[in-house]
This record gives sequence, C-alpha cells and structure tokens, in this order.
Amino acid sequence: MSSTATSTATEIVLPGKVRPEGLQTQTRDLPAPGKDQVVLRMEATGVCFAEQQMRRGKYYDQPPFPFVPGYDLAGTVVATGEQVDAALIGRRFAAITKVGAWASQLLIDAADLMAIPDEVDPADAEAVAVNGITAWQMLYRVAKVRTGQTIVVLGANGGVGSTLVQLARRAGITVIGSASPRHHAAVRELGATPVDYRDPDMYAHIRELAPDGVDAVFDHVGGPGVEESWQLLRRGGTLVSYGTAASKDEEGNSQLPVLKLIARLNAWNALPNGRSAHFYNLWAGKRRCQKSWQQRMTEDLAQVLRLVADGSVVPQIAARFPLTETVAALELAESRTVAGKVIIVPEV
Ligand SMILES: NC(=O)c1ccc[n+]([C@@H]2O[C@H](COP(=O)([O-])OP(=O)(O)OC[C@H]3O[C@@H](n4cnc5c(N)ncnc54)[C@H](OP(=O)(O)O)[C@@H]3O)[C@@H](O)[C@H]2O)c1
Repeated sequence: MSSTATSTATEIVLPGKVRPEGLQTQTRDLPAPGKDQVVLRMEATGVCFAEQQMRRGKYYDQPPFPFVPGYDLAGTVVATGEQVDAALIGRRFAAITKVGAWASQLLIDAADLMAIPDEVDPADAEAVAVNGITAWQMLYRVAKVRTGQTIVVLGANGGVGSTLVQLARRAGITVIGSASPRHHAAVRELGATPVDYRDPDMYAHIRELAPDGVDAVFDHVGGPGVEESWQLLRRGGTLVSYGTAASKDEEGNSQLPVLKLIARLNAWNALPNGRSAHFYNLWAGKRRCQKSWQQRMTEDLAQVLRLVADGSVVPQIAARFPLTETVAALELAESRTVAGKVIIVPEV
C-alpha cells in the first residue's frame, strides 16, 4: 500500500554567502511523493567540506542561493509514490543528495536509495556515506592499491581521510597521514604514522619515512603542494587528487582552481615517467549513465557498511547536533579542531 499524504518538513536554508549564523530555518508542506519517489525521514545527516565551500559560493558545482544544503543522509522511508514498492516503508536507507539533506524529511527518487544493514547505526552509516564511497573508490577503483604498499593520506583526521586510513590499514597497507598535531594521537590510533601539514619540512619527513617513494598519494589540498605530492611517488605510483582545500578562502571563480589542477595532472600524465595522476570526482559518469553510476555507489557503500557492521571500520564521529542547532554544527566543522564528521540528527 503506497502512502501519498502530504507532511511537514523542517529545513535549514543557506540564503546566500553568509556566516554560519546566517543559516535560516523554514517549515513547509512537503508535496506527496511523485510516482517514483519516497519520503525519507532523516535520522542522520552531517557537515561535509562541500558545505563549507558552498556557503562561500566556492563549490565547484555551486547551487544558486537560496538552497537547503546537506550532501548525504541516512533515514527511514515513511511514504512511497504510486510505482514504488510500499514494502520499503519502515526500512532504512542512505542517499547521496549533494543538496537538500539538512531537513527533517525529504523527497528522494526510490532508485537513489542505498540499503543500510540493520545492525549499523544511522549516524555511523551517514558518517561513511559520501566519505566511505569516496575513500573506497579512490583506493580500489582509481589507485588500485594492494597489500604491502605504502600510501600518503593528506587530512587523515577528516571525514574522508579517517575512513581512507582505516580501509587501507585493514587491507595491509602502510599509511602516512598528515594532520595538525592536535590530531596526531587520533591518527596513530587509526593505524597511520602522523606528520604535521603545517611543518614546512613535512614532505622531507615523509621521504625519511618512505625513502623509496610511495605507491599512492591522496591529496585533497591542491595548490602548490600538489607538486610535492607528485614527487613522492615511486615508479608505478598514483597521485589521486580530489579537492582544492587550499583555495577555499580565495575570492574568484569556484571552478578555476579545479580546472587548473586537472590541466596540471594531465600534463604530468603525458610525461613518460612511470607514474600517473588522476582527478577523482564522485559524480563522474552520472550524466552519461545514471543507472550504472548509482549501481557503483550502492555496491561500494555496501562494501564499506559491511566493514562497519563487522567492526573493521569505525566511523569517526566528531559530535552530534540536533537539526535545530545546525549553526553550531557548521561552526564546529569549520573550526578546524575536529576529528571525523560532525553529524546532524533530528534531535539529540
Ligand atoms: N572529488 C570528490 O568527488 C570529493 C568527494 C568527497 C570529498 N571531497 C573532498 O575531500 C576533502 C575532505 O572532505 P571532508 O568532508 O572529509 O572534509 P573534512 O572532514 O572537513 O576534513 C578536511 C581535512 O582537510 C584538512 N584541511 C582543510 N583545509 C586544509 C588546508 N588548507 N591545508 C591542509 N589541510 C587542510 C583538515 O585539517 P584540519 O582539521 O586541521 O583543518 C581535515 O583533515 C575536501 O577537500 C572535499 O572537497 C572530494
């Protein structure tokens, strides 16, 4: 039996380029789900680096203001459209939305739902949704890492970084992880050797730790340091670049830093040097074939959630805030003091 009654949603709105306290709360009637849609009641969403870029108007695929941010979520289906199996009601799913998840409930295409095993807590599932898929795909679909290799993970305390470190460690890979000193104990706990990214000699230290070079570097920082990341690779090594955190606070075109970076990576790839450089983009291939893109997302998240369920990966949750305190959640995520992901739940 499908359910198409309208219901009310509380949403957090980013009205323009504002400081976190400029976020607004709105309540609106949610239309009944379209024939292929469901209403997903949010149980956990969170703050990604992307929202920090979006509030500055600096995200690569910047949505026009005003909009409801929220890159991913875990939730329970509470209503289904005409052509969706009503047996989904009451079941728990994750979804990647890019925007819209900072809401008490939202409409989602049923085809975008990714199952969460019963034994996984929704906040844990949320913490490894985009982060886990990104980490898994960069390791196994791009760098194709193998047991016994050595890799460098920049931002090893972050949402993606802390997941990447754990996936690599459980695969028998040696990990050197950059983080500020306040996070070194946490990075060590995850199984990586920490190095300080504020230390001007960081790359020299990494060379001391891996004198023969490393098999892969995962670099979300971009800027001038990406050349150093490239130089760390041994023959056969892979640079996986996946962000431009270094330019977050620079004024100007939001796409230019990424386009410049990709041009650089392409130039390095053209050299006969036995190394390769890639820009990883979670959304690549979606426009070409939505179905196979979603299938990849679903398969890769299932792999990560299986490891969460058996305890091999422990999602790093920095703090939990109720949806009504999203301002505080965003402020904390932007404070550069946290390890793991700041999670937003309906209420604490
Ligand atoms: N290409 C893709 O498809 C894709 C998909 C997902 C994520 N990403 C990228 O992945 C990165 C991590 O995302 P996240 O949500 O995991 O972020 P996060 O939890 O906020 O973590 C960010 C990490 O980067 C470090 N960092 C921030 N600014 C830095 C800078 N200027 N120099 C050096 N380190 C810096 C942080 O260190 P502190 O804690 O010391 O600040 C932290 O370790 C972001 O750049 C995001 O854009 C890309």
